[in-house]
Amino acid sequence: MAVANLNDREFSYTQADFERVRKIIYKKAGINLSDSKKQLVYSRLARRLRALKLPDFSAYLSYLENTDEEQQEFVNALTTNLTAFFREEHHFDFLAEFVKNFKHKRNLRVWCAAASTGEEPYSIAITLAEAFGRYDPPVEIIASDIDSNVLNEGRAGVYNINRIESLSLERKRQFFLKGKGDKNAGKVKVIPDLGRLIEFKQINLLDAKWPLTGLFDVIFCRNVMIYFDKSTQVNLLEKMVKLMQKDGLYIAGHSESFSQANHLVKLVGKTVYRLADVNNRNTTDES
Ligand SMILES: C[S@@+](CC[C@H](N)C(=O)[O-])C[C@H]1O[C@@H](n2cnc3c(N)ncnc32)[C@H](O)[C@@H]1O
Repeated sequence: MAVANLNDREFSYTQADFERVRKIIYKKAGINLSDSKKQLVYSRLARRLRALKLPDFSAYLSYLENTDEEQQEFVNALTTNLTAFFREEHHFDFLAEFVKNFKHKRNLRVWCAAASTGEEPYSIAITLAEAFGRYDPPVEIIASDIDSNVLNEGRAGVYNINRIESLSLERKRQFFLKGKGDKNAGKVKVIPDLGRLIEFKQINLLDAKWPLTGLFDVIFCRNVMIYFDKSTQVNLLEKMVKLMQKDGLYIAGHSESFSQANHLVKLVGKTVYRLADVNNRNTTDES
């Protein structure tokens, strides 16, 4: 098998270019790129060089540094958006159980903090609709991400039919509309009732202040902390627990562990956490 010579690349791309990319994406999004990501960065950003008709990475990085509009494209190109409906299904079973014990009169509030293309917040919405037994459950879901493209996909709620292959027939029938005609054949759209439960908004977890109000009963923050270094992870977790109701849940991704932050959260299920110290809180908004 012929192996492509890295020097035969379409665009000149040096170690110094990679270091520059690494620095910028860390500063902008907290994403910590290891050396093994050098080729990945090349292929993700080469698309931008082609689109902008730039001759090499050095020219692209200078353009990036001087062009505000390119900043978002750069972030969008470097995020990894892998997700799925009901990914790590046990979390949704946990959420359904949580609803059974939810006795408050107010809406149940969920923040999905790295929502990607929407499969995760829609899975939350389906779980809550089922648990409350109605298409208009008393819930509010905020679905956020740093990547503007994935947020648009989430808002549209249109997916290739194979994305819902593993869902039960009942879920497919109840929560998805099948696309018709040349343009939409092979696609499904989530029903509008689910869309009404979710507000998609752009939030960079690295920002000092998040545009959020009130406390949350459940925070899903799955498979994003892995891109950050340990100190960023703990800083973010510190901020997130301040946004949790006393009896709230923090749900992490399968390879994210907070055993080193047991002053903040305690494990109560498979990568499911509750507040470590509910007495040490000065905020509640019970009703
Ligand atoms: C691998 S996906 C995880 C999606 C979903 N939570 C799941 O587990 O299936 C990671 C997501 O985190 C987002 N992300 C990366 N850095 C971020 C940041 N600084 N602030 C907010 N979102 C970020 C990416 O855009 C991407 O959509």
